[in-house]
Amino acid sequence: MSINYLSYQDQVQRAAKRLLERKAEERKTKSALLEPLSPPPAAAKPLNNYPIIEWTNYTAREVLADQDVESDSSTEEERYIYEETLGEGSFGGVVKALDTTRKCWIAIKTVLLDAGDNPIEYIQRESATLKLFRDNRVPHRLNWLAEEQWPDEDSISLVTELIPEKNIDAAYLSKKASQEELTFDEIITILRQSLEFLSSLKKLKIIHGDFKPDNMIYERLSRYLTVLDAGNAILPTDEVPEILQTREYRCPAGILGGPCEGTEDLWSLACIIYELLTKETLFKFDSMKSDSEHSGDETDICHLEMIHHQIGLPSPAYLKKCERAERFYTPAGLPENPPQENHTPKWDERLDQVARDKKIPPKQMGQLISLLRAMLKYENRATSEELLKSPLFEQDVCFHLAGGLPKEGQILIRRISKVFSSAVGAADMTIDLSSQVTRTCYHLPRDPCNRYEVSLWRTDQSLISKQQSDIKDGAILDLKSYFPQ
Ligand SMILES: Nc1ncnc2c1ncn2[C@@H]1O[C@H](COP(=O)(O)OP(=O)(O)O)[C@@H](O)[C@H]1O
Ligand SMILES: [Mg+2]
Repeated sequence: MSINYLSYQDQVQRAAKRLLERKAEERKTKSALLEPLSPPPAAAKPLNNYPIIEWTNYTAREVLADQDVESDSSTEEERYIYEETLGEGSFGGVVKALDTTRKCWIAIKTVLLDAGDNPIEYIQRESATLKLFRDNRVPHRLNWLAEEQWPDEDSISLVTELIPEKNIDAAYLSKKASQEELTFDEIITILRQSLEFLSSLKKLKIIHGDFKPDNMIYERLSRYLTVLDAGNAILPTDEVPEILQTREYRCPAGILGGPCEGTEDLWSLACIIYELLTKETLFKFDSMKSDSEHSGDETDICHLEMIHHQIGLPSPAYLKKCERAERFYTPAGLPENPPQENHTPKWDERLDQVARDKKIPPKQMGQLISLLRAMLKYENRATSEELLKSPLFEQDVCFHLAGGLPKEGQILIRRISKVFSSAVGAADMTIDLSSQVTRTCYHLPRDPCNRYEVSLWRTDQSLISKQQSDIKDGAILDLKSYFPQ
């Protein structure tokens, strides 16, 4: 069935609003705070390479994520109170709403049942994938909360936690808004957190399948990355679809029908990092066409030409493994079409230029370029585990929070080197305790002595306690010792 894109969006909007707007007058209702914490239901599973955390006292965020609140179908329509629209994607709309049962803000992704492209399968795939992520404690996942299909409604919805920021595309790349720039440090932490996410997916043999800036949210204050939109994920039991990934972030195998190696998301990630550094799309297409219009041999040829220009021709041995190679290459492995002149700079030269312009230490940019080179390949890409060992990440410290947390206020963390150099320097990280979002691991810029000042503040900005603490990579910061007993 063909659907009119705009009117479909309208319908999704209306469906979502119909469900939620009934109690719009109650918008003023404040998000009540979570009840006192109960002990965790089951022992925590190990989190990838990091030490096992003994969750003697779950944080508010972990409880929110792990608790399956029973649906009470008679009150579902009353349960969620619509607040605002967050996004309109290819299949539906995402709205922010208040969950009156959980007493927190949540996001609801809704698709219409009669839309094309099998919306039920789309939501169910995303739902199943997010549940897998939750059960396996995938770092930087979006937390699944519920799947809802209201009686007599023509839509199906997925309820997840709400991430209180715009996606990376809207916040840092879109030309429209007055954009703030991400620092090199922040781009490196986004890269490391993405690799942690992908490394965890690799263990589960899952491909995200649509890794791109508008499916990522980076919260600046807490330096935390969340990866969204698992609707295109490829699970181990799935056949690899013919069309993989959004055009600009599509790997060569996705164009040529090459064998799936499980590192396809790494190609997209390299394109994203290039884009964050340069604010230019690495493989850019002229017109603002939707993805379905970005198909066909002509666009593929143009895409492949850009790839040849950037990383050279694929080997004839690789082309033999690709189902669609003969559409584009001669039996000797040469492009069927004579290449167009291309004056775009090579990606690595462009990054060297960025390093000079932005005064990024050449050593670090060199390390980043060699990392990206291992990702921008036709085949045999390095794995995320291998990439995570790069010396580039020595400047980034990953830690976990343990211990019961207060339900409001803030934790501020500052490098000791900064404390000494300026009395009122900004914090390196601010953790807002009232935002009930699940956190897996936090990332700080490294202090030369691994020492940080950790302070706890009330909502009225009065200080509760301030301490110095050693935080090394992989550390568990137990906050119990910070609270006055
Ligand atoms: N849980 C969430 N918290 C905050 N914003 C969200 C959330 N889920 C989605 N969004 C916003 O809505 C947009 C579309 O959501 P997404 O899941 O990517 O749907 P689609 O499959 O339509 O692309 C995202 O780019 C993001 O800006
Ligand atoms: Mg999306």
